[in-house]
Order: sequence, then structure tokens, then C-alpha cells
Amino acid sequence: MLHSEEYLNDSRLDWYNSDFIELMIRRLNLSSLKVIADVGCGMLHWTRILAPYFSASCTIFGIDREPGWIKRCEPQREVFKNRGFDLQLIESEADAIKLPDASVDLVTCQTLLIHVEDRTRVLKEFYRILRQGGAVLCSEPNNLVKSLVIDSLGADQPMDHLLLRVKFELAYAMGKNIKKEGNSFAVEAIPQEMLRVGFEDIRAYLSDRVELKKRDRMDFSGLHFDESEGVLNYARVGGFSETEIIRLQDEQRDRTQRLRDLLLKESFLETNCAMNYLFVGRKTK
Ligand SMILES: C[S@@+](CC[C@H](N)C(=O)[O-])C[C@H]1O[C@@H](n2cnc3c(N)ncnc32)[C@H](O)[C@@H]1O
Repeated sequence: MLHSEEYLNDSRLDWYNSDFIELMIRRLNLSSLKVIADVGCGMLHWTRILAPYFSASCTIFGIDREPGWIKRCEPQREVFKNRGFDLQLIESEADAIKLPDASVDLVTCQTLLIHVEDRTRVLKEFYRILRQGGAVLCSEPNNLVKSLVIDSLGADQPMDHLLLRVKFELAYAMGKNIKKEGNSFAVEAIPQEMLRVGFEDIRAYLSDRVELKKRDRMDFSGLHFDESEGVLNYARVGGFSETEIIRLQDEQRDRTQRLRDLLLKESFLETNCAMNYLFVGRKTK
């Protein structure tokens, strides 16, 4: 199943302030790498955020298991080429990457580990393709937190609607877990999992992932729940009822309209956030 396109859109390019990314690249000494793999690359948004800080002439592998995303990344080849990068696209499972052992300087991913069944298998695979001295950088959110971030209409909403949003996020995460299609709880355990597969010098950071809602991009995806059928099905499996789905959809429709009206009057409305970690490790042996 392709991740909902509404949620894999270019607003992802605005998730971080560029000076924060620049700082992280400098802190982690990632600017002179030659071979980079972005696993679960989707539409390459994460790579597009990082690339300005990589050395020109490096090779970047965009890896995803969905042929649909790989196809949609094709036009980026030319864009990257014009900036001096060699972009190669590979259709591959994250736990069986079609790259040789010790062939990559940096393995990175964003919002991938919350979607995989067995994070340890994926981290082991990252370790395998990294050369000695290489680094792993995983940007992963705890999305449960964002259900508590209430938009500017928050004070107007009945308590049971607010709680319904929290219940929806929990039901979605539980459904995904029950179906063995990801564990979006407990991303906080990733450093421990990295340690177990052999990474060293492990660090965890909170990123400055925020998104200003702007008039030129009427996108409320970060503030609202994803209504795609796949996501609703996870919530159903996690115990969310049809009646609750309809209530949440009605409430969301109403809020979207009110936020849209507000945004037309004022260019910046508010931010939204997800508690987003950056986990880093090194392969030293
Ligand atoms: C939420 S999207 C993130 C896309 C991109 N990293 C970004 O931040 O914009 C998750 C991506 O991981 C891919 N994916 C999920 N499970 C995967 C797996 N086991 N192996 C490879 N790719 C996977 C999906 O197809 C999707 O493109």
C-alpha cells in the first residue's frame, strides 16, 4: 500500500529549519561523505533536505520497496545530476537492501522505522551495508504526541472531540502493531536496538521539526489525521469504531474549513509539531 499521497507531499520539505539541518550535518561531520543511502525514501523529501549539505559528486541511493514511489522519484535524477550528484534508485526491502556489504558511508531514513515490522532486522541491514567508520542517521517521530497538539481552534472544541483524536492515534498505532506492519510506539527504544546490532557512539537528539502553516500551502496534513483507507483500517483493528470514525471525520471537515477561513485572513496561522528524534550511530569495527 502506498503511503497516502496527501501525507507524502512537499510540505515535508518545510519540516525543519535549514540552519538546524546545517548544524546537525556539521556536528555529525557528514558533509564529506561519498556514498549515501536513503532507505524508505518515498518521494526523496529527506534526501532533498539533506543534499544541499553533502559534497557534490557523491552518489545517493534512493531505496524504497514500493515501485510506485521509485517511479515518482525518476524526475529527481535530472535535478540531482544538475547539482552534481549521482542519484540511483533501487526498489528494495529495507531488511534486504540490494547493495553489497560495506559499500555505503551513511545510511539514513526518515519515518521508515515506525512502519517496519522488525526494526532490528532493518538496523542489522543498515549495519551490513555500512563501511567501517560509516554512520547511521534515523529521523523518526513519536506521532502519538502530535494528537495532543491542539490547533488554534482547540479551546472551542468539546473535550470528547479532543480525546477522540488521542484515541484515534492510539488505535492506529495499536492496529499497525497488531497487524505486524510497524511499531509506532516506542521509537524511544531505537538507541537500544542500535546498540544490540553493533552500532557504537550512539546519540539521540530531538529535532526542530515544526511546520508553519502558510497561506500559499493550504495543507493541514500535520494538524489532521490521515483519512486514507489504509490508515482507517489500522484504527479499526486497534479498536476505533465506525461511529467514532464518522464523528472524527465530521469534526475534521468542520475544523479544516474554519482553519482555511482563518488562514485566508492571516498568512501565518500556527505551527504544528511532531516529537521527532534524530538517532545517530557509527560502525566502528
Ligand atoms: C512515511 S514514508 C517516508 C518517506 C520519506 N522517507 C520521507 O521522509 O519523506 C515511508 C516510506 O517507507 C517505505 N517503506 C515502508 N516499509 C518499507 C520496507 N520494509 N522496505 C522499504 N521501504 C519501506 C514506504 O514505501 C514509504 O515510501
